[in-house]
Amino acid sequence: MMVEIIERLLSGVASGVLELGEPSFWLPPQVSTVARSVDWLFYFILGVSIVFFLIIVVVMGIFLVKYRRREDRLDAEETPRHNLALEISWSVIPLALVVIIFFFGFKGFLDISTPPANAYEIYVEGQKWNWSFAYPNGYVDADLHVPVDRPVRLVMSSADVIHSLYVPAFRIKNDVVPGRYSHAWFEATEVGEYELFCAEYCGTSHSDMIAHVVVHPPGEFETWLEKASNFLETMTPVDAGRKLYSLRGCQQCHSVDGTAKVGPTLSGIFGHDVSLVGGQSIVVDENYLRRSLLEPAVDVVAGYEPVMPTYQGRLKDGEINAIIEYIKSLTDEEEGGP
Ligand code: CUA
Repeated sequence: MMVEIIERLLSGVASGVLELGEPSFWLPPQVSTVARSVDWLFYFILGVSIVFFLIIVVVMGIFLVKYRRREDRLDAEETPRHNLALEISWSVIPLALVVIIFFFGFKGFLDISTPPANAYEIYVEGQKWNWSFAYPNGYVDADLHVPVDRPVRLVMSSADVIHSLYVPAFRIKNDVVPGRYSHAWFEATEVGEYELFCAEYCGTSHSDMIAHVVVHPPGEFETWLEKASNFLETMTPVDAGRKLYSLRGCQQCHSVDGTAKVGPTLSGIFGHDVSLVGGQSIVVDENYLRRSLLEPAVDVVAGYEPVMPTYQGRLKDGEINAIIEYIKSLTDEEEGGP
């Protein structure tokens, strides 16, 4: 059993070192220009650690047996005071190893922190518990779409707490902090779909804070962006509202099937009275819904915390109208999930 596990770990290291690029036991596929150097260093450190672990444990085992206490040998043996060759080698070899690790680690850090000047910029916002990605034309999506073989720079901020954007296939991870911008960049080298995680514990649904990275083939990213951006014109307001409901993070806190989550359900509320935290009640109409999006802390429904971030400046008027129309449509009993 133990031998099997060790064999598997070692063959993972070997295949990682020999076939850089392929997914291995240890790491996902390498899909960005920096991934190779990150992995190389990871395997180097892992290999050095395994070699030294074995040397230390094996020698320790031998010494344990060889110098154990025996009836005919109760006193400690005379041992040499020092050994110059040994002392120089245990100083020089580790020094060389950490210099190599520092050199390639620092070089890799500089590469990962310095985007090329012509990078395509996408704004990223993290909030409890979803991601939004704003493209240069103003369109906002819940997934990160990028062209292949083109440097992309992410300008990231948070609407509430600290999140961390992590794309394992690209080997990039950086904190997303409220009140300031942080950055990350990558150049995707393979068309496909990859996972994007939040890597900083940010509350109840932290582990659901997942998005996809879609790497488009040459020429297809622009077509996708053009088509996706026009949804307010091409869809009915209800459909556009449903799309916004899942794109902009509403579904993380508001159900459409009547169950209460972090926030109240949106199902069957339009035109009805709700009780507010202060004790009074209010009719859910267009004005109440609009105000709840722009000033969510003003009229909080009784039984809930004022935790919703404002959408002031983050939703256009047309988008707010579409969301209101979608919520109106949820008064019908048969309206299901997104
Ligand atoms: Cu956002 Cu964890």
